[in-house]
Amino acid sequence: GTVLVLHGPNLNLLGTREPGVYGNKTLGDINLSLGSLAADLGVRLTAEQYNSEADLIERVHAARTDGTAFIIINPAAFTHTSVALRDALTAIDKPFIEVHLSNVHAREPFRHHSYLSDVAIGVICGLGPLGYELALRAAIEHLN
Ligand code: DQA
Repeated sequence: GTVLVLHGPNLNLLGTREPGVYGNKTLGDINLSLGSLAADLGVRLTAEQYNSEADLIERVHAARTDGTAFIIINPAAFTHTSVALRDALTAIDKPFIEVHLSNVHAREPFRHHSYLSDVAIGVICGLGPLGYELALRAAIEHLN
């Protein structure tokens, strides 16, 4: 099966967006390194980014039947707001890991709560782009 990486709203602006918080790498850089790690580890990987909640939810629904085995998701701000995204993820019954570049627990109180964490296999935050690579390794362990 394929590992589907989903990036949420505003992550298309990585590299220029608050570099002090999110670093200098672009989303393209991150997806490229992740893709080459996936190739090294012999797993198929697809990475997509959506700014809209509806698009993310539709993509999660599609993952039910498109050969996706595991989802790595950075839901960005929808982490803290979206019961609908949580319901979509629980509806399709695929394992997922939640990733955040920044340490959300060291930031504003409204970022401390996630609607997804308790239904995720695991959560990684504060490690920057490395978090996605660790999530990919964990996904492969989980699938084997
Ligand atoms: C984020 C953290 C969220 O609180 C924020 O809304 C984001 C990015 C992160 O990767 O650190 O957009 O998910």
